[in-house]
Amino acid sequence: MKNLMLKRKGDLSALKEVYALENMIFKKESWIIDMLKIELLFYNNSEIPIIEQNGLILSLPFFRKLLIECHILNLGVFSIRQKDGIGGILLKDFLDDFKSISSVFLEVKKDNFSAINLYKNMG
Ligand SMILES: CC(C)(COP(=O)(O)OP(=O)(O)OC[C@H]1O[C@@H](n2cnc3c(N)ncnc32)[C@H](O)[C@@H]1OP(=O)(O)O)[C@@H](O)C(=O)NCCC(=O)NCCS
Repeated sequence: MKNLMLKRKGDLSALKEVYALENMIFKKESWIIDMLKIELLFYNNSEIPIIEQNGLILSLPFFRKLLIECHILNLGVFSIRQKDGIGGILLKDFLDDFKSISSVFLEVKKDNFSAINLYKNMG
């Protein structure tokens, strides 16, 4: 699975595909397209980790680092590829990259057990 991860500069070339994936994963709770646009542009000079297979983007990872803090804003995996290790790879890669970070903040619904388990597994 590791070889599926790409790191690319944030830009708008993937916006439509990311928006379609966001809608597929989060349905009526999806971010609107402009929120995704802002996040992709936020990564302008840094790399965004993307899991891709055969040219298809399988995951949405949006994180923000603020000095010693990090905020997980949006994390999702293509529905039919959930439970395949992808979310874990993304989160681990991200946490490994930011060893200087002392706190990670996120919001999760109390009945979203797959996400809660994932976050707990990652400590
Ligand atoms: C939450 C989400 C990102 C996890 O990604 P994933 O690729 O499916 O997760 P992984 O396969 O890497 O699983 C990692 C761990 O997460 C937990 N997990 C994942 N799916 C789970 C499920 N359906 N039920 C219970 N635990 C689950 C498990 O602890 C798992 O570890 P294990 O396989 O050793 O038991 C994915 O399910 C998803 O996109 N959900 C919809 C969007 C969402 O809710 N995002 C989070 C918003 S806070």
